[in-house]
Amino acid sequence: MTKPIRATIAGVHGYVPDYILTNAELEKMVDTTDEWITTRTGIKERHILKGKNQGSSVMGIHAVQGLFEKTNTDPRDIDLLICATITPDMPTPATGNIIAHAVGAVNAFSYDLQAACSGFLYAMITGAQFIETGKCRKVVVVGVDKMSSIVDYKDRTTCILFGDGAGAVLLTPNEVGQGIIDSVLRGDGAGEKHLHQKAGGSRRPSSYATINAKEHYLYQNGQAVFKVAVNKMTEVVEEIMHRNHLSSDDIAFIVPHQANKRILDVVAQRAGVGMDKVMANIDKYGNTTAATIPLCLWQYESQLKSGDRLILTTFGSGFTWGSAYVIWS
Ligand SMILES: CC(C)(COP(=O)(O)OP(=O)(O)OC[C@H]1O[C@@H](n2cnc3c(N)ncnc32)[C@H](O)[C@@H]1OP(=O)(O)O)[C@@H](O)C(=O)NCCC(=O)NCCS
Repeated sequence: MTKPIRATIAGVHGYVPDYILTNAELEKMVDTTDEWITTRTGIKERHILKGKNQGSSVMGIHAVQGLFEKTNTDPRDIDLLICATITPDMPTPATGNIIAHAVGAVNAFSYDLQAACSGFLYAMITGAQFIETGKCRKVVVVGVDKMSSIVDYKDRTTCILFGDGAGAVLLTPNEVGQGIIDSVLRGDGAGEKHLHQKAGGSRRPSSYATINAKEHYLYQNGQAVFKVAVNKMTEVVEEIMHRNHLSSDDIAFIVPHQANKRILDVVAQRAGVGMDKVMANIDKYGNTTAATIPLCLWQYESQLKSGDRLILTTFGSGFTWGSAYVIWS
């Protein structure tokens, strides 16, 4: 019996800018300590995109160009490029359009998808549908965020958490049972009050008043978000494992969104896997929002082999969250 067409991750690549913002430098900017940041979040440093007129697309272009080189892909063969971001270069055109143009994906349609920290997973599952239906054969999914553009470096509760970066995957069809096997995507708009950016959209367009009130920066109720994130991420991981009859021994790696090392610890514990089976790079990159999961896959790529079972999981503003079961090919 022929197996259904699955979308498989045929390649992954990442990019982080050169500048490293360390906890020591943050100690000079806000009332905090390396010890507090390390014990509460697990973060030691994060990369920041510096320079005038440098938007998220700059990092996305690096990641996608690297992906094409690595996978020997002709950009003209790409059918679709989806860019997950909450920090687009500008409201319109889409940052996905800008990236596709710059990398020479002239035959692709492209757009942005906004699901905050869950953006990459939402975009990857969306891209997979186009492969599974046969509509597209080569899809690029790029998760990119320049969080430094919306973080208030006077607010110690948020500025310690976030960094800038991009990660991209190439999705292609697979007919031997590997690739994205199953997924759960969820959302709850009631989360708006705990994590949002008040101004700069159509409800409160930019004005002197919104800028003076610092409404263009990310607002977060950290404790409230932490609790929901832990519960929802573990819930969907358990759901995906249960319905695919997977035990902790079957899993090569859990690939979680990198929001807080303490969240990763709980997710691992509840899934019954040791931390050696949890991809983590939060110490080096912080929370890069839509880029965390592809950056993890990129960093751990050399440890992965064909047939490895991965559980991806994420949580973000919205609230948005989800999980996917992937067999690495
Ligand atoms: C933000 C976060 C690290 C804060 O950690 P926490 O353990 O919840 O800390 P709290 O908010 O309870 O604050 C504890 C104390 O530390 C203080 N504090 C906050 N940030 C601090 C910092 N950078 N340095 C030193 N002290 C700090 C607080 O003011 C508070 O002081 P108080 O007790 O005198 O009032 C944590 O809540 C978190 O990671 N939340 C989830 C984030 C997340 O997942 N976001 C994105 C979803 S994608």
